[in-house]
Amino acid sequence: MKPIVLSFPDDAGLAGSVSRELQARLGSLEWRHFPDGESLLRIEETLAGADVVVFASLDGADRKALPLRFVADTARELGARSVGLAAPYLAYMRQDARFRPGEAIAARVFARFLEQSVDWLVTVDPHLHRIAALEDLYRIPVACVESAPELAEWIRREVRDPVLIGPDEESAQWVADIAGAARIPYQVLHKQRRGDRQVEVSAPDPERLRDATPVLVDDIVSTGRTLIAAAEHLRRLGLPPPVCVVIHPLFSDNAHELLKRAGVERIVSTDSIRHPSNGIGLARPIARAVAGQLARIERGTEP
Ligand code: R5P
Repeated sequence: MKPIVLSFPDDAGLAGSVSRELQARLGSLEWRHFPDGESLLRIEETLAGADVVVFASLDGADRKALPLRFVADTARELGARSVGLAAPYLAYMRQDARFRPGEAIAARVFARFLEQSVDWLVTVDPHLHRIAALEDLYRIPVACVESAPELAEWIRREVRDPVLIGPDEESAQWVADIAGAARIPYQVLHKQRRGDRQVEVSAPDPERLRDATPVLVDDIVSTGRTLIAAAEHLRRLGLPPPVCVVIHPLFSDNAHELLKRAGVERIVSTDSIRHPSNGIGLARPIARAVAGQLARIERGTEP
């Protein structure tokens, strides 16, 4: 029996490509709102015995989490053998500690919530900082897709003499992988965040950037302030305008516009979250990771 992919509306494009790669069936999931804002979810599929993949990138997680739970529980009630989650962007990973007394450690609470909803999780480059591995946080099988090969390939193809710049210490993990895959140099800056929109980053080493194209790489862009601060240094140093490469393009409010105005040459992102800057497709590696989870379930049911 073919697996059935149930996609949230924002993710229909990527979910369709992943379904084709998987030779799975893209099922029909209806999500409508009552006038008071409550959600009505409806699965228009026969699910008896099926392995179901719920496809929902978790940007806007506060809006999507409850509907996700409704879908997963309903799929089980309709007889699904297993229910997994492909969430190219995994929310709340940055709130991985209690920074001020009384704060919720949302990464942990959200992990418990998802574990109670689904049997497995596939995501793309989760923001791992104080938590070393996703397995340390989740007690269900998890698989992390690395976007580095796709990013490296895009940079090699599109950028002349690139030098990668990671804007903060956490970015070293992604930047080093991409630079390794693309065989290009990189440097990592230091960041101090003083508020949601107040960010300072250290200046890059200009000597290594003369006659090169600076490529700013970040896993998440939210307010855009991190990349804007780095781009402003480049401009002050009289270096060429940078290309910005983003894994998860959250781009809250007018962040995309502000970043464009900060004198960057080009902004490109992966399609982990649907956004006009999408230019790097992840359907294949996501499909491979989902196939791995489905194969594990199949093995688990063998006599
Ligand atoms: C956090 O450290 C992440 O890696 C990003 O650098 C951060 O989320 C970017 O946020 P913003 O765009 O709001 O500066």
